[in-house]
Amino acid sequence: VDLIVSDVLSQCRERWATDDSGRLLVGDTCVEDAVKMAGGTPVYLYDRDIISTTVGEVRTILSGAELFYSIKANPFQPLLGFIAGCVDGFDVASGGELIKAVCAGKRGDSIQFSGPGKHPDEVVQAVAAEALLNVESARQVSAAAAAAALLHKDANVVLRVNPRSLSGWSGLRMGGVASQFGIDLDDAADAIALCRKHGIEPRGFHFYWGTQCLDGEKIATIQRDCWQVARTLSEANRVVLRYVNLGGGFGIPYYKGDQQVDLLPVRDSIAEIGDELRSLEPGARLVVELGRYLVGAAGLYLVSVLDLKRSGEAEFAVTDGGMHQHLAASGNLGQALRRSFPCYTPMRMREAPQGRIRVVGRLCTPIDILCSDARLPDLDAGELLAIFQSGAYGATASPQEFLGHEPVRELLL
Ligand SMILES: Cc1ncc(COP(=O)(O)O)c(C=O)c1O
Repeated sequence: VDLIVSDVLSQCRERWATDDSGRLLVGDTCVEDAVKMAGGTPVYLYDRDIISTTVGEVRTILSGAELFYSIKANPFQPLLGFIAGCVDGFDVASGGELIKAVCAGKRGDSIQFSGPGKHPDEVVQAVAAEALLNVESARQVSAAAAAAALLHKDANVVLRVNPRSLSGWSGLRMGGVASQFGIDLDDAADAIALCRKHGIEPRGFHFYWGTQCLDGEKIATIQRDCWQVARTLSEANRVVLRYVNLGGGFGIPYYKGDQQVDLLPVRDSIAEIGDELRSLEPGARLVVELGRYLVGAAGLYLVSVLDLKRSGEAEFAVTDGGMHQHLAASGNLGQALRRSFPCYTPMRMREAPQGRIRVVGRLCTPIDILCSDARLPDLDAGELLAIFQSGAYGATASPQEFLGHEPVRELLL
């Protein structure tokens, strides 16, 4: 089991460089200097080289498709400004994210707006920005038509479709089951007809079936399923496929036993689907949207040890961070099985672990655990600890105002 624990950490060690003394580097800056530059701990540090290497690898794999970044994974504006230059588009989920996308330099149909609960004002925002509007209900179709009439503009409508079932996916599902996301396949023909009644011709289809999948074969199979649905819908309803978004769902290793997803099957499925799509419609756009896969491994959450203590059989390191800043690492308010993100002493990456310690935050709840059973070198108060794989769903996906602590710092290097 220990070997497996260190497997995830060793994947992180391979990705992050260290200097001659075994101190972690963020970009080419020693982690301690990077923390000082940011103003101290707790802080999220993001490494732009790791982001661009990851994006480059994904683009090679998905060479027949456009790559969109889902802002929700990490909307830190300097990171958005950087990644905007590396990807084809942004996927946004609110009016606020739409503004962030525009501020980062994306325009028009390189922005796609999805989400089950779009306020009519947000639909107006999207139509004004000439963004792609992924409609998820009949009411959203009508809102798109109303916004288009108000602004005397076309609404760039794409139908988000929820297929009846999807092969073999049992993780966090957002399609292929009853859900608030998208329009059920059985209702898609009516939604297309409603668009046309309003003078809107749908540009194509969007699928988003789930997230954090570590099985490349499964991802490829689901992409093929979605493509068949798009093709059948297009033939049955004479929709010219100008845009097909197959979702994303690529996961990253966080826990014991997690392995990097093998994307070779996805390379094949995307190449095949891209060829078929363009043989039907030469100028068509095939899109994959990813959040955590592009930025998750490029982020560290750095905390300082405030106190060290023993209670019963357990050793504790109490830190200046906590679940209010990194809800995901603490298990998102509860896991059936408590599992931990990889954690180590970033100033002593080459030192061997000496013991097991529970790394906790400073909130008044026993679930404020950042790492339940970290194997670390002996610690002193003041020591820096790094939680790896923290570049996605960190600062903005955590209840930061709980207990009135300062907001967490963030820095992109
Ligand atoms: C529509 C949509 N796109 C993209 C994502 C990003 O998922 P991930 O960060 O796992 O790639 C999500 C996540 O919930 C989503 O709902």
